[in-house]
Amino acid sequence: MITNATSGTNLHEIAPGIYRINTPAEIPGGSFNFNQYLIADEAPLLFHTGPRGMFPLVAEAIGKVLPVASLRYVAFSHVEADECGALNLFLAAAPAAVPVCSQVAAMVSVNDLADRPARALADGEVLVLGKHSLRWLDAPHVPHGWENGFMMETTTRTLLCGDLFTQGGKGEVAVTESDILAPSEGFRAAMDYYAHAPHTAVVLERIAREHPQTLACMHGSAWRGDGAGLIRALATRLGARPLAAAA
Ligand SMILES: [Fe+2]
Ligand SMILES: [Fe+2]
Repeated sequence: MITNATSGTNLHEIAPGIYRINTPAEIPGGSFNFNQYLIADEAPLLFHTGPRGMFPLVAEAIGKVLPVASLRYVAFSHVEADECGALNLFLAAAPAAVPVCSQVAAMVSVNDLADRPARALADGEVLVLGKHSLRWLDAPHVPHGWENGFMMETTTRTLLCGDLFTQGGKGEVAVTESDILAPSEGFRAAMDYYAHAPHTAVVLERIAREHPQTLACMHGSAWRGDGAGLIRALATRLGARPLAAAA
């Protein structure tokens, strides 16, 4: 469903009760796109807010599913504008909502910059929304951000995988079973956003062992298939293609 004809913002259910909100944008070098994921449940959760300027579009799309004021959690993988730039606008619009992030994120940034204290999740901690349950997975520096982590929705086996598998373009296809590794590696070749930390392979293997069936990417299409296999393939590619400066 197109939720804003001017911006092209659109909304699709990619797994039961999990909605992808997608907005195309132009950045230097071409088309790009920003996704947020809304989990509709007794305690609704938004994963990523979009940049501050995108707040009206994201709020409008959420409003097609549930009242923005009913949001209970505003979660994000790490502290950057596209992940949490509109955090305080959502906290203002949803009086019972609290930020959800890693313990490092809360300590270093969020408990200062957010208008309400964060619900800081420990590695492995589970947040129950009602029917859906989310497990927080610390993933420092993978792909970037000391405070980075992901959320695994265990009933639908959907991994909210943030910037992993970032694909350029407008992200027109909400969910695909076609390969996303080659397009995301193509994007990374032009703009390498990875920290390439020494433990990257260890972190990715831990994520793979969650055996996601849907990867809810923040940029580009969500993907359905053998998530463990694709994450391990990514780890191999990262190992096979070290930064030129590190080679
Ligand atoms: Fe990021
Ligand atoms: Fe991002």
